[in-house]
Amino acid sequence: MRHGATLGDTLHAQGHDAAGARALARVIEALAGAARELAEVIATPAAGESLGARVGSDNSDGDQQRKLDLVAEEICREALRGAGVGPYLSEETEGPLTLDPAGSLAVAIDPLDGSSNIEVNGVIGTIFSILPAPESAKADPEVAFTQTGRAQIAAGFFMYGPQTRLVLTVGAGVDVYALDRASGAFRLVESGVRIPSGGAEYAVNASNRRYWREPVRRYIDDCCLGADGPRGANFNMRWNGSMVADAYRVLTRGGLFLYPADSRRGYEHGRLRLLYEASPVAFLTEQAGGAAIDGQDPILDIPPSRPHARTPVIFGDADEVEILHQNHLVTSTTPRDARTRLGAAV
Ligand code: F6P
Ligand code: MG
Repeated sequence: MRHGATLGDTLHAQGHDAAGARALARVIEALAGAARELAEVIATPAAGESLGARVGSDNSDGDQQRKLDLVAEEICREALRGAGVGPYLSEETEGPLTLDPAGSLAVAIDPLDGSSNIEVNGVIGTIFSILPAPESAKADPEVAFTQTGRAQIAAGFFMYGPQTRLVLTVGAGVDVYALDRASGAFRLVESGVRIPSGGAEYAVNASNRRYWREPVRRYIDDCCLGADGPRGANFNMRWNGSMVADAYRVLTRGGLFLYPADSRRGYEHGRLRLLYEASPVAFLTEQAGGAAIDGQDPILDIPPSRPHARTPVIFGDADEVEILHQNHLVTSTTPRDARTRLGAAV
């Protein structure tokens, strides 16, 4: 598809079966409509309105909610309501809901990723995962969210930065679109994204170093030793505090992103949520030639233990991910069977 083509054009040109392609296109276009609306709210909030204000409630997983988290949830849910989505799971909902009992697709979504960046005018985003809705999910929508990430039909994220961008995979590579504000269309700016190899750059919240386990500490310490250390190269570090922004950089420039498990209470399985943060980014990463693991296993093979389950996350350049994987194999003391369905504890 030529650059400048609209999202609608490219979706309809995908080689899926007709009914399946139409259902998928409807959902992705609904998400694009929500992102367009959200981008407008973010860029031009009402006078005196503080979108980063804490609203005094916590979401389902104990995170402090901001005004924009709630606005984003409302916009995304309403946009998807008429788009053929059955089971729906959001970071902001207590558990899975059914939007349309006849819907053939399920959506797991983080409506507003990187909330702590709102008040500092930093990059924020919306992450989504689209799964098939099994017949049995009609009686219980949670069934749709017991599938591993391998079942994803499409996944991606919108990024609200200097430009609003969409990074999308429907299982045939990764494409990037930019919002053309004049027409309201998302237009293709890059197709067939491949993660460059050899990028000596990593993203981690290094203030947590004292809580990390040995495999992660060793990897980062080796990077910090630079050209004089075992890696023989000077590494750079970047941390946006918003996974979408870091993921976009990794897809563009290579390197690695890590949010490992650590010894803090509540971080035993890392911070990021499997279904609507880790899995969609892992799908994009693999489609761009990279790798995404929890330390030991591919993120896409981890069965969710519950809708809001967390997982340690390491993704990016496959060679760098492999170094961390080897570190874990050497030092892991956790029996594999004990880790499954509880989320890995690396
Ligand atoms: O959604 C979780 C998230 O905001 C990610 O976007 C980001 O990478 C991470 O949390 C930041 O966590 P911390 O504040 O612990 O560095
Ligand atoms: Mg998030």
